[in-house]
Amino acid sequence: MNVDKIRKDFPILQKKLKGKPVVYFDNSCMTLRPKHVIDAMDDYYYHYPACALRSLHKLSKKATEEVEKARIIVQKFVGAKKTKEIVFTKNTSEALNLVANSFGLKKGDTVLTTDKEHNSNLIPWQVMARNFGIKRKIVKSDKNNEFSIENYEKNMNKNVKLVSVVHTSNLDGVTNPIKDITKIAHDFGAKVLVDAAQSVPHKEVNVKKLGVDLLAFSAHKMLGPSGMGALYGKEEILENLSQFLVGGETVSDSTYESHVVENLPEKFEAGLQNYAGIIGFGAACKYLKKVGRNAVSKHEYRLNKRLTEKLEHVDGFSLIGPKDSKKRGGILSFNIAGKDHHEIAMLSDSLNNVMVRSGAHCVHSWFNSQNLKGSVRASFYLYNTEKEVDLFSDTIKNISRL
Ligand code: ALA
Repeated sequence: MNVDKIRKDFPILQKKLKGKPVVYFDNSCMTLRPKHVIDAMDDYYYHYPACALRSLHKLSKKATEEVEKARIIVQKFVGAKKTKEIVFTKNTSEALNLVANSFGLKKGDTVLTTDKEHNSNLIPWQVMARNFGIKRKIVKSDKNNEFSIENYEKNMNKNVKLVSVVHTSNLDGVTNPIKDITKIAHDFGAKVLVDAAQSVPHKEVNVKKLGVDLLAFSAHKMLGPSGMGALYGKEEILENLSQFLVGGETVSDSTYESHVVENLPEKFEAGLQNYAGIIGFGAACKYLKKVGRNAVSKHEYRLNKRLTEKLEHVDGFSLIGPKDSKKRGGILSFNIAGKDHHEIAMLSDSLNNVMVRSGAHCVHSWFNSQNLKGSVRASFYLYNTEKEVDLFSDTIKNISRL
């Protein structure tokens, strides 16, 4: 993987802010975009800015063609069998809400999650419990903050209808053993929904190999446009989900009293869609595929190892998650005793343009359970460098001495 060459594709990395280069370590929140993605979206707006799937004129035909090409690229990117198994959504949150509202859970049915879920995979189930009386079970992580198969098995029973778990945690970078989780869930007759927002962008994720039933991910965490995501679902499962958002294009006919539900995937894609976004999503997958996700994972791991080794000697440093950086992919979440996490992030930005995220990273529930206010989180991607890691570690060392 040629990082120097890759960096040239990202317009923002060619710029300076207040005379210094941008060092972007907030990739778990949102990644930067290469010109390939920006150009693909511009191309739509400049050359065929029409709606897809509806009108019969040339511009609409071209838009339809490009949207369907993008759907095939996304389908192949996650190893889905059919294009109809890919539903475009606004983001991972919308995909998870779609399933929560459409799965047909009834009073007394149980949904099982982990204790490290992002609010997107926590709040929908809290609302379902409040409004429809579903039950919830939460699997506690082990002492290293890793998934505990033992605790999981203890919580499984025939009432669990859906296991909805995060793949890679945005909190500490730990990846859960989805294949094993799925096997156990299926033995109990439960289906599996995966929040893959932090895994699909960084490693090879193949839905067939994992055996999962449903999987949600976002384009903006993998070089794609903001406000774009997707839900993968096995055809027979999506067929059985009821509709979520409804309206234009989700029906093939209607009278004043009734309607005929459209086929997959349009059944779930209500109204005019974000066509430029869909096309940009396809371009992002293409770019990542060319670089190779295994190369991306290895690169992130190298950077994380380097940063961990440098920061663990800083006075007051405490790490969230396992010590072994290999288990944390491209995420390093930490605190410095006596320093406020937001202050560290703001100083890092103002001193050296090193941009990280601070706070609870939308996993307030976990931080509350640990009596912690939050953390500083550095998260890497394919364009980050060793030099940037060294600048960040020097910056943190300076801040810790202030
Ligand atoms: N889930 C996003 C993050 O971790 C917003 O930053």
